[in-house]
Amino acid sequence: MRIFSGIQPTGRKHLGNYIGAIRQYVEGQDRGDPAIYCIVDLHAITVPYQPSELRRAVLDTTAMLLAAGLDPDRCVLFRQGDVHEHTELCWLLTAVTAHGELNRMTQFKEKSARQRELVSAGLFLYPVLQAADVLAYRAHEVPVGEDQRQHVELMREIAIRFNNRFGETLVVPEVRVPEVGARIMDLQAPTDKMSTTASTEQGTLYVLDDEKAITKKIKSAVTDSGSEVRVAADKPGISNLVEVMAVIRGVDNPTIEREFDGQQYGAFKQAVAEAVADFLRPVRERYEELRPDEAGLQQTLAEGAERAQALASATLRDVRHAMGVGGE
Ligand code: TYM
Repeated sequence: MRIFSGIQPTGRKHLGNYIGAIRQYVEGQDRGDPAIYCIVDLHAITVPYQPSELRRAVLDTTAMLLAAGLDPDRCVLFRQGDVHEHTELCWLLTAVTAHGELNRMTQFKEKSARQRELVSAGLFLYPVLQAADVLAYRAHEVPVGEDQRQHVELMREIAIRFNNRFGETLVVPEVRVPEVGARIMDLQAPTDKMSTTASTEQGTLYVLDDEKAITKKIKSAVTDSGSEVRVAADKPGISNLVEVMAVIRGVDNPTIEREFDGQQYGAFKQAVAEAVADFLRPVRERYEELRPDEAGLQQTLAEGAERAQALASATLRDVRHAMGVGGE
C-alpha cells in the first residue's frame, strides 16, 4: 500500500495540521510501502510570497515533520520543487480536468475571494498539481484533514477519466480522514477551521507555541454561556476543546465528557491547556535541536527527492506513452 500526502511549507504549522494530518503521517510510516511525504513549495507560489523566505520555510517544515516523528529511514520525505515530474504531470492532467470542476473548488473560491492582489492562474490549477502529486506515485491512500476531502475527490475523478480515455495507467486513490480531529476549529471563532491564513492569531495554537502562549490562548477560547462540558451543535467552542482533549488522550469524546462531568469550564480549559502543552513540548524541544542543522536537513531532502524521482519517473514514462506525448 502506497501512502502519499503533502503539506505547505511554513514554520507556523498549527494544532489542526498536527492533529488532522501530521499525526497520521507518523502512523502511516509503518503501513506505507512506502509512505511518501512532500513539502509543497510549488503550491506555495500560488499566493503572494517572499522568495527569500520560501526555502527557509521548507527547512522549518522539514525540521517540524522530523520532530513530530517522521523518520527518513521509514518514509520518503522530500520537497516538491526538487522533482520536476510533478509539474510535468500537472500539465498532462489538465487534458482530463474540467474547467467547471476547478471553478467549484471550495478552497479556490475562498482563497480567490480573499486575494487583494493578483488571483493567479496557479491558484486555479492548484488542485491539478495536487492530483499530480498523488497520481505520480500511484498512491492508494491520502491521509489529510477534512478540508482536503474535495481535492482528493477531484483527483479520483481525474484518475478515472484518464484511465477511461488513455487506458488503465493511474491508481485511483482513497482519502483517509481521521475519525476524531479532522477539523480543528479556531479558538476565537469556533465555527471556522483553524488555519494559517484565515484564522485569528489568538485563536490559532501553533505547534511551536510555548506553554505560556498555549495556556493563554486556551483559557481565552470562546465558549458558550452554559456550563456543561459536552459536544453539541450549539456548543462549537466546548465541542472543539473536547475533541482536542480526546485526540491527545487517545480516547473518544464521550470518555472526555464523562471525565469532566459537573466541572466548570475554567477547570476544563486548564486541563486542556496542560494536556496540549505536554503534548507539544517534546515536538518543540526536538525542533529546536534539529532546525540549526541546515546541512543535515538539506541532505535529508536531497535523498528523499532521489527516491521520489525514481518512483515518479516510472509513472511519467507510462503516462507519456499512453498519451502519445514526446518520442518513444
Ligand atoms: P496544508 O498545508 O494547508 O495542510 C496540511 C494538512 O493539515 C490538514 N489541516 C487540518 N486538519 C484538521 N483541522 C484543521 N483545522 C486543519 N487545517 C489543515 C489539511 O487537511 C492537510 O491534510 N493542499 C494541501 C497540501 C497538498 C496535498 C497534496 C495534500 C499538496 N499536495 C497531495 C495531500 C495530497 C494543503 O494545503 O495542506
